[in-house]
Amino acid sequence: MIEIVSGAVKLRQHQIGDLEDIHLWENDPELLVLNSETEAPWSRDETSEHLVRWISSHERRLNSLYFAVCSESDDKLIGFAALALIDPIHDRCRVAVTIGDRSYWGKGYGFHTLFGLLVFAFSYLRLHRVVAEVYDFNERALALVKKLGFEQEGQMRENVWKRGRWSDELVFGLLRREFEARTRPLAGARVSLDGVWGEMAHDRALDANSRKA
Ligand SMILES: CC(C)(COP(=O)(O)OP(=O)(O)OC[C@H]1O[C@@H](n2cnc3c(N)ncnc32)[C@H](O)[C@@H]1OP(=O)(O)O)[C@@H](O)C(=O)NCCC(=O)NCCS
Repeated sequence: MIEIVSGAVKLRQHQIGDLEDIHLWENDPELLVLNSETEAPWSRDETSEHLVRWISSHERRLNSLYFAVCSESDDKLIGFAALALIDPIHDRCRVAVTIGDRSYWGKGYGFHTLFGLLVFAFSYLRLHRVVAEVYDFNERALALVKKLGFEQEGQMRENVWKRGRWSDELVFGLLRREFEARTRPLAGARVSLDGVWGEMAHDRALDANSRKA
């Protein structure tokens, strides 16, 4: 079990009861343009299969870890997020955030979601580097990653066919030392952790002194 509270956001393991909202958001044309390579909607069976895998990612050490994003005050599901392709050899992962309920946009929920994920990735999993890939027209997401200190490292020119034209995909990276220098990570989020991910965090904390800075 992993629970991360960051500002007004709580990140928790998904539940089967999340299915209806996730299915709605994974079939929302505007969200698909902003955050999906293929823009292919999911059938109900596909959403259900994905949700089962997302739930099990908290119980088994899969290479991606999926979170339900909730409003902390009333536990309402408002989106989903992930640390993807967690690589314990090169100490890196990718990050993805979707606030599916648009009535929560522009109120800091995306910021606190990403901040909580970064605290977990850097301070608990002791990763060295987190990558975010953002389409060049996604202004909210661009502003969000820049606000948290990500540096643009690459530009995949005309990498995706979106909205009837080619768009660039921008690659952003953030290093642990940069995040820690800008923020007081542990003061900014509360993390409850046990199970396989707790063991991993424990092992990596013990190993931290011998690892590359
Ligand atoms: C991108 C997304 C996660 C941002 O979440 P959010 O809750 O709207 O963002 P926040 O309110 O936390 O704002 C964070 C920053 O985004 C920027 N931002 C917020 N509203 C904005 C707007 N209307 N236009 C441009 N930038 C905006 C601001 O820089 C803001 O910082 P500020 O509050 O200091 O001004 C959310 O819009 C979303 O889920 N979009 C669809 C999915 C998606 O694009 N995911 C990212 C894929 S890489």
